[in-house]
Amino acid sequence: MTTLEIKDLHAEITTPEGESKQILNGVNLTVKSGETHAIMGPNGSGKSTLSYVIAGHPKYTVTQGTITLDGENVLDMSVDERARAGLFLAMQYPVEVPGVSMSNFLRTAATAVRGEAPKLRTWVKEVKESMAELDIDAAFADRSVNEGFSGGEKKRHEVLQLGLLKPKIAILDETDSGLDVDALRIVSEGVNRYKERENGGVLLITHYTRILRYIKPDFVHVFVNGKIVAEGGSELAEELDANGYVRFTSATAGA
Ligand SMILES: Nc1ncnc2c1ncn2[C@@H]1O[C@H](COP(=O)(O)OP(=O)(O)O)[C@@H](O)[C@H]1O
Ligand SMILES: [Mg+2]
Repeated sequence: MTTLEIKDLHAEITTPEGESKQILNGVNLTVKSGETHAIMGPNGSGKSTLSYVIAGHPKYTVTQGTITLDGENVLDMSVDERARAGLFLAMQYPVEVPGVSMSNFLRTAATAVRGEAPKLRTWVKEVKESMAELDIDAAFADRSVNEGFSGGEKKRHEVLQLGLLKPKIAILDETDSGLDVDALRIVSEGVNRYKERENGGVLLITHYTRILRYIKPDFVHVFVNGKIVAEGGSELAEELDANGYVRFTSATAGA
């Protein structure tokens, strides 16, 4: 049983011009093993920022609040310590790594996270099976990480990593964006398999409700202006689908 606890989190970004801009304004959120939380909010509300701050991106500075994983201070950990502790981030815009093959990358990542190199025999089988489950062609193993991948192919590979690295808590930032209906189903099934096999906690960031037809959230949080402004169950996602975010954005506009 794992608990990720975020309390009163404030964070700012340092722009390329060297100015600081406050983006997170007091986020409170607790994600436990086996739970699925959807964070939904308009563009620019700070959803990706939240995911980066949890993962430890150096561009952001936490100015107030705490993040703990089973009571351990996550903010004290380096990016790879966070990964070893069981945190995983599927980025909204996965990075291309020319010259590093997908298979090398996956094995290196699994070795780093597991603390020892996976046995080659079982590993090759594990990767093959996971790729087949996600309908990823075997030829991708020899291609450079994400280089020239379509948006949908990148998202499938994020979910491939999720299945192989088996984190305790997975943050999925817009893993649904740019997917056609079939890919959306395949990717969602991958996330659901991870939940079943690992009893993982999932923080699913999205601004569309359509992925929530495939991945049922236990909790829905509405994210506006760098914080959570409303919470509910899956019925809240349905309301957002029908009415959009206006009710929430206009309420905070003057704040
Ligand atoms: N380098 C940057 N300089 C200034 N503002 C930035 C920078 N990067 C992100 N932001 C701003 O931070 C806010 C939150 O962005 P983001 O977390 O990506 O939102 P979301 O994922 O909800 O669409 C936006 O207003 C965005 O313009
Ligand atoms: Mg985003």
